[in-house]
This record gives sequence, C-alpha cells and structure tokens, in this order.
Amino acid sequence: MMQDQKQRAMQAIHKELVAFHVSPLYEERIQSGMQPVIGEGSLQARVVFIGEAPGKKEALSGRPFCGASGKVLDQLLEESDLAREDVYITNIVKDRPPNNRDPKPEEITLYGPFLDRQLFIIQPQIIATLGRFSMEYILRRYGLEDQLRSISEAHGVAHTAITDFGPVCILPLYHPAVAVYNRKRFDELLTDMQLLNSFYSH
Ligand code: URA
Repeated sequence: MMQDQKQRAMQAIHKELVAFHVSPLYEERIQSGMQPVIGEGSLQARVVFIGEAPGKKEALSGRPFCGASGKVLDQLLEESDLAREDVYITNIVKDRPPNNRDPKPEEITLYGPFLDRQLFIIQPQIIATLGRFSMEYILRRYGLEDQLRSISEAHGVAHTAITDFGPVCILPLYHPAVAVYNRKRFDELLTDMQLLNSFYSH
C-alpha cells in the first residue's frame, strides 16, 4: 500500500471508532468528554507496540501511552535504537474502561478487528505486545494459542507467525505499568527491548 492509501485507510478506522456507539464504552466516553485512542506513529513502522486500553490521560488527549506507563515506554525506546516517531503504538481496546479496570473479553472481541486492520495497513516485521491482554489476543489471532504462557514465562520469548501479510515476529513484553514502581521489572523490560533491537533489521 502507498503512504496516502495507508493514511486514508487509517483515517477510515478513526472515523468508525469515533462513531462506534455499539461499544459499551461509547456512552461513558461521550459523557466524560473523552476521545477514542486510535494509535500514533509511523504507518511505515517495522515495529508495532500494542497495549491494553487507554487510561484517563490517553482518553483525554486521544494519544496512546502519554501517562505514567508512557513515560516508561519512552525510556525503553530511548535506551534502544527506536524513536517513538518511527514505531507505531496502539492498544487493543480503543476506549477507556471505567476506573482503569481490565478490558472485558467482549470488549476485546469488539475492538480486535480494528487492530487487525491497523496491522494489515502497517504490515510490521515485529509486533511487540505489552501485557497479557494483547499477548493473548495476538497469539490467538495468529494461531499460536498453544504458545500461551503466563506473562512472567512468556515475556522475551519470540514467536514467528504467518499472517495475511507475511511472516511476523511476535515478542511478548511486560506491560510498562508494572515497571512504573518496580526497578526489576524495568530491567527485564529493558533486556527484552534489547532482544527486540536485535531482530530489527536496520
Ligand atoms: N496503558 C495502556 O495499555 N495503553 C495506554 O495507551 C496507556 C496505558
């Protein structure tokens, strides 16, 4: 896909999500003056990071990972060879679950197809999942459910998936939120990011 085709396809997704009133999270978003968080970054990205769902800061600004977890993600990117504008960052669920509760399975089912379309538009070489929800979604989506483990076992173990746009490396990572107050988790995330770096063909 050409760059302008990609942009148009992503704008169409944005428009659909803004009007996504079948979602149980829609009403709350409208009432609290929040926005859907579609994702941000390069549509030519070779690495896509997938989080869980927007938090309050994200839903207020419409930007993914701009709060405390985002700060951790920024540090991780800084320590690796990746610039935030060269990667693409998004979530499975595009609207904020109230009180930052975990996304419900039916919400993941509802929003998942938007993520699938985004991945097809970008066609990354590497999908880095952040936390267990996106790990589970992506491994199942690409037929790797037999590889599912707890996040403490699965993080930093890469898989190759055959997708409708070719082979992709899937690398589960801890969610940056677990590293906000935990140095050990931060160091583990950093080690896994270095692995990601080594897969990345510059
Ligand atoms: N946590 C997420 O999973 N996604 C965000 O965008 C912010 C915090």
